[in-house]
Amino acid sequence: MCIIIMKMKNLKQNNLISFKNDMPFVQGSTFAPLVEAMSNYKESPCTGFHIPGHNRGQGVLGSFATLIGLDALNIDTTDEFDNLGTLFPSTGAIDEAQKLAAAAFGAKRTFFLTGGSTIANLALAFALTGPNDKIAIGRNCHRSVLSGMIISGANPQWIMPKKLNDWAIYGALDPFELRKKLENNPDISLVWITNPTYEGVVSDVEAISGVCHEFNVPLIVDEAHGCLWNFSDVLPKSALECGADAVVHSLHKTGGSMTQSSMLHISKNSSFDLKKVEHALKLLHTTSPSLLLLTSLDAARAYLSSSEGKSSINNAINNALYFRERASKIQGVRVLNSINGCAFDVTKIFLKVDGLSGKRLESILELDFSIEIESASDEGILVLSNIGNTQDEFNILLNALEKITQSNYPDLAYLEGIKFMPLTAPKVVMSPREAYFSLKERIKKEDAVGRICAEVIALCPPGISVLLPGELITNEHMPYLSDFSEIEVLLK
Ligand SMILES: Cc1ncc(COP(=O)(O)O)c(C=O)c1O
Repeated sequence: MCIIIMKMKNLKQNNLISFKNDMPFVQGSTFAPLVEAMSNYKESPCTGFHIPGHNRGQGVLGSFATLIGLDALNIDTTDEFDNLGTLFPSTGAIDEAQKLAAAAFGAKRTFFLTGGSTIANLALAFALTGPNDKIAIGRNCHRSVLSGMIISGANPQWIMPKKLNDWAIYGALDPFELRKKLENNPDISLVWITNPTYEGVVSDVEAISGVCHEFNVPLIVDEAHGCLWNFSDVLPKSALECGADAVVHSLHKTGGSMTQSSMLHISKNSSFDLKKVEHALKLLHTTSPSLLLLTSLDAARAYLSSSEGKSSINNAINNALYFRERASKIQGVRVLNSINGCAFDVTKIFLKVDGLSGKRLESILELDFSIEIESASDEGILVLSNIGNTQDEFNILLNALEKITQSNYPDLAYLEGIKFMPLTAPKVVMSPREAYFSLKERIKKEDAVGRICAEVIALCPPGISVLLPGELITNEHMPYLSDFSEIEVLLK
């Protein structure tokens, strides 16, 4: 800890560090207090009698140690030991790292999480919504938002984003639709949107936030897929800049941290009760957070703030533009570009190949070309241009697409009549929580039409709901239920 303080003092003397609202902000610096604290921990052997029981890798299967490396096992620890700080309450190097993240993202408070953005959404619902509260939610939200509604007992008031029918995906959420919803439901107490969509379509969050302010209703933005935006002028404006009260970032998705690590930011102007949010996180979060994951969040923030990180983001953008241009010229390939002037995150590339469904294209790429893409749905596939990708890798994909369009790959008959991206409008009969805790039975899928669903049916990715507890099951849902032989429904 004392090494960290000295390092910060040195930076301050060298004018590299400034304090905004009492929070340290290291301009373009790769200073990462948790990375430093962990390096010290690694270099300071001690005789340990605490968890984790493998004791710096001494008690594990040899082949596993070889697989992940003794260095990783050596620093696999949690937040109770060795002066590394604690997460709840946040102290020591963990606290310093969170403060640097808050400054880098422009938040009042940033929480590091080791349970993904799922935990952030659950905790926000738990802290800020209660039984029968009316919450306006974009229907393209991730299933964790809905799980939050089951926990809290709030009633979602659905707003349907535009549908891009040719691509079978959701588009932007119209601020006008939100206005209508708030005008017709003056008792709505919170607005919760997902932005960008999984496929990179961006809503006008500034306008949405303006509507929320006009109606005096706070705004949560699940920006799980947009954590790079704050670090580039070319990418869309981040929700924290656009006036949202709370913003969720899956740093592990595109920000370079390790899988399961995420951040929850509370904005400077938000009136959300920080203590309430922290209490909810404390109740839902593991009490043994992995220091490896927390450190990777500190490292990701420092990297994205650095000139090296910025150049990686520029590469991701340039590679995406390079690929978009070339892929669009391949006959039979169509790339989703801006539709009706709506904004886009160019690093998320949704494309389709004539004559092939997205799922079929995905399997051809995987089986015949050893190429793994982010996801596939009915019409197309999603390719991410990441900070870790190279132009050479995009050339491999371009070559594969050329070969595929020149071959006569048939689509597969078994995919007929099966759908993946649920664009259906829900028929709500009762609240998710009420249905979830009602008496239920499991019945054959074929007998489920006309019954009230009692389970969350939202396949990942992208985790958007087909059906939720309390919604009427109709014929429209059947094509989305190919993986199910039985459905949980309310007892008649
Ligand atoms: C929009 C959105 N929010 C939240 C989540 C949950 O994130 P995590 O996997 O980090 O728990 C996801 C996951 O795909 C997502 O797409």
